[in-house]
Amino acid sequence: MPMIRETIVTTMSREGLVHIAPLGIIADGDGWIIAPFRPSKTLENLEVLPFAVANHTDDVRIFAGCLTGRRDWPLTHSAQVPVPRLAAALAHAELAVTEMTEDAQRPRFRCRVVHRAAHAPFAGFNRAQAAVVEAAILVSRLHLLPRHKIETEIAYLGIAVAKTAGAAEREAWNWLMDKIRDS
Ligand SMILES: Cc1cc2nc3c(=O)[nH]c(=O)nc-3n(C[C@H](O)[C@H](O)[C@H](O)COP(=O)(O)O)c2cc1C
Repeated sequence: MPMIRETIVTTMSREGLVHIAPLGIIADGDGWIIAPFRPSKTLENLEVLPFAVANHTDDVRIFAGCLTGRRDWPLTHSAQVPVPRLAAALAHAELAVTEMTEDAQRPRFRCRVVHRAAHAPFAGFNRAQAAVVEAAILVSRLHLLPRHKIETEIAYLGIAVAKTAGAAEREAWNWLMDKIRDS
């Protein structure tokens, strides 16, 4: 299996509306593959404007926020592509689509990196951040997974949050827990 990096992908519609979504981008030599499941705004946008930004951030509120109706995160212009990047990105890669492979469920957009930049230092691993990203993935699959699996995994992930979270991780975790409770 190829390596997958969990990022916040920004794309833009024909009208210039930016869409922000957590996506696991798939390593592909020097480039990356973006593989959105249908239906997806990211997919629609890539079909009309074949550029994206892979934003690398340790602010896990953006992962949790996008899954809980909080998509309005500050943006700033990119260097080489028309799609903006997240202002909070520690680093980002600007991507141009070179090939699309159609699929009824999950089309794949092969991308080359046209520019990359670092903006802030990586501050080290935090277990609660990893737990929030895992919980966000569970929330994105609430309609697919059995309830007992969600509850068992959340109970385990919650240990790392209780032991290691800072304020941002706790806030992100609480948004996700509210969403699970209301589902
Ligand atoms: C860490 C993480 C990785 C994800 N990776 C993918 C992915 O590779 N493909 C996908 O379709 N959805 C993925 N999702 C779910 C999407 O973020 C979510 O369903 C999103 O709304 C995609 O649809 P959109 O483009 O309409 O926003 C991921 C979610 C998380 C939290």
